Amino acid sequence: MILAFDTSCDDTSVAFYKDSEVYSNIISSQNDIHAKFGGVIPELAARRHAEVIAYLTEEALNRVNADLRDVNYVAVTVGPGLLPSLLVGVSFAKALAYANDLPIIPVNHIEGHIFAPFFNRRIEYPFLSLVVSGGHTHLFFVKNFGNYQLIGKTLDDAVGEAFDKVARVLGLEYPGGPVIDRLSKSGDPYKFKIPKGLERDGSYNFSFSGVKTHVKNLVKKLGGLSKTQIVDIAASFQKASIDILVEKTIRAAEELNVKTVSVSGGVSANSYLREAFIEASRKYDLKVVLPEREMTTDNALMIAFVAYLDVSRATKDYFKIEADPSLRLI
Ligand code: KG4
Ligand code: ZN
Repeated sequence: MILAFDTSCDDTSVAFYKDSEVYSNIISSQNDIHAKFGGVIPELAARRHAEVIAYLTEEALNRVNADLRDVNYVAVTVGPGLLPSLLVGVSFAKALAYANDLPIIPVNHIEGHIFAPFFNRRIEYPFLSLVVSGGHTHLFFVKNFGNYQLIGKTLDDAVGEAFDKVARVLGLEYPGGPVIDRLSKSGDPYKFKIPKGLERDGSYNFSFSGVKTHVKNLVKKLGGLSKTQIVDIAASFQKASIDILVEKTIRAAEELNVKTVSVSGGVSANSYLREAFIEASRKYDLKVVLPEREMTTDNALMIAFVAYLDVSRATKDYFKIEADPSLRLI
């Protein structure tokens, strides 16, 4: 039985995992704090993590009628992420493990995202894993647990970051992804021609800064935007950025002869992305694995799940567990 923590960025999350039926996943969003700044302020994020983490831990245990005596392992995200944020979760997890004489399992946040779609499902190796969030746009070839090859990544902005920046240019709220997703449903995705980044370079890499700049210039040229123009730009931007993700991932699956593709991270909540991947899976006879909505954004259940997949990583050498903002997966 695992008690897990994730405080890598702006959401505080605590989860308890026993088996496929008994688990909890508490996620406390900080959007209220950061919205007015249009982005995450690390020190404010850390302060809120510190305020709520003890209460959320009680809540995660209460939800499944458990208490600390039921816990066998503590798991925690040690990186990558924002240092002040990571420090709160890591310090709390270490203190709790030490005080209760429990082994602790350090987890890489990206590994959490990679396995989130497979929670309560059979893992079929090898698979391609597209991790798309506010901080990451990575395409991994996953041969086995612990055996990852990075075959593509963004050369500049992460796709979620592009959604957030474009939303700001359009005068929409933060975070931009969910708003653009919602507004795009009533927009015309063919109204504005927005170029896709690195479309024909032959690699599996991505680029989103050009798309963002294109929207910025378009908005400047159009002057004051009507409501219709806002939803049409949102839909056209969304189509351009998601289509390239789908195209390159599917091409990689074909070229590497991989039959299973998974998508995770905050942007995998996008409804157009989900539809596009499902459609592509039919067309190319691939299996596409998408996480439950609750497991798309940062959460501690995915961290508990990775810990569960390999408990041999557990240690009681507490002083060796340290937050590492630029922790690498490979
Ligand atoms: O995984 P996540 O919660 O945190 C990071 O590790 O970054 O991802 C947050 C990102 C934000 O950029 C947000 O705008 C984006 O995911 N996002 C979406 C949607 N929901 C969240 N992007 C597009 N469509 C959505 N529905
Ligand atoms: Zn994340």
